[in-house]
Amino acid sequence: MKVLVAGATGALGTQLVPRLVAGGHEVFGMTRSASKRDVVRALGATPLVADALDPDAVARAVGEAGPDVIVHELTALSDVDLRHFDRSFALTNRLRTEGTDHLLSAGRAVGVRRFVIQSFAGWPFARSGGPVKSEDDPLDPAPPQAMRRTLDAIRYLEDAVVHADWTEGIVLRYGGFYGPGTSLDADSEYLEQIRRRRFPVVGDGAGVWSFVHVEDAADATVAAVQRGRRGIYNIVDDEPARVADWLPAVAGTLGAKPPHRVPRVLGRLLAGEAAAVMMTEARGASNAKAKRELGWQPGHPSWREGFAEIAA
Ligand SMILES: NC(=O)c1ccc[n+]([C@@H]2O[C@H](COP(=O)([O-])OP(=O)(O)OC[C@H]3O[C@@H](n4cnc5c(N)ncnc54)[C@H](OP(=O)(O)O)[C@@H]3O)[C@@H](O)[C@H]2O)c1
Repeated sequence: MKVLVAGATGALGTQLVPRLVAGGHEVFGMTRSASKRDVVRALGATPLVADALDPDAVARAVGEAGPDVIVHELTALSDVDLRHFDRSFALTNRLRTEGTDHLLSAGRAVGVRRFVIQSFAGWPFARSGGPVKSEDDPLDPAPPQAMRRTLDAIRYLEDAVVHADWTEGIVLRYGGFYGPGTSLDADSEYLEQIRRRRFPVVGDGAGVWSFVHVEDAADATVAAVQRGRRGIYNIVDDEPARVADWLPAVAGTLGAKPPHRVPRVLGRLLAGEAAAVMMTEARGASNAKAKRELGWQPGHPSWREGFAEIAA
């Protein structure tokens, strides 16, 4: 099949493109920068230069490639300031709304058969009920003020893709990425903060996080490109974990002392409402549907071994 990957140069894209090429697909990789054409070529794909927020450029790129499948892996996060969550996500939210619309309408014009888009399994879930959510569980009906616009953008992209009746619209709710090129890579700032005990457990640390190694996320995306059915899939590992459990365990793996603990009220003051919510109220996700319907198994079933691998 012809597959167009928007976001081919990102952490996920650079894992995904070579896997699709190895699977026998003809791959087109979209980037904003002409200077990254060689990066895309080195991955085995044909480069397409287009700004995902420019509808004419997107229509030209999609028209040129004529893909059977479009994969949207766009994001624009460099420095996330959790104290200003929605502001940090503003451009990413445009990629999730306008960027999705432009790719959908360009894809519709060329008769794209499948449209695969990223979403997130974690804080967007309703903060009530059990600790681990399936694809049928609701998103947060009353998100904290600080995260409202970002959740609106996630909701928008999920609805737009699942309800596009002219194509097989597939939403992949990835867990938190770790591994090469991600913000939880061996030499990343976040792991350095854990090593230096500057990443405390906030409150009771009862927030549940689901992780996924970026290579496993790429494998799941290939499976979705090849045999996904309309709907939502959680792409997470087998072990959702409370912050109070995973953070000390990862610190231990990194050879660091256990993290400090700060009361929720102080954590909220220092790191903002979004951080406090993620640390104390977030829910994790089940990967049962992805395993069952995509025939996917994470190569790193638990973040425990996964982080040990990158720390080594
Ligand atoms: N990291 C996580 O834990 C996590 C969890 C769940 C979901 N996700 C989602 O998974 C997807 C992949 O994440 P990632 O970590 O691979 O992201 P990343 O490394 O930040 O890569 C982002 C990609 O988006 C492209 N891009 C940004 N703005 C663009 C624009 N205006 N026009 C065209 N391309 C643009 C970049 O291409 P150029 O720079 O080459 O233009 C790059 O290839 C994202 O959508 C992210 O939101 C991530």
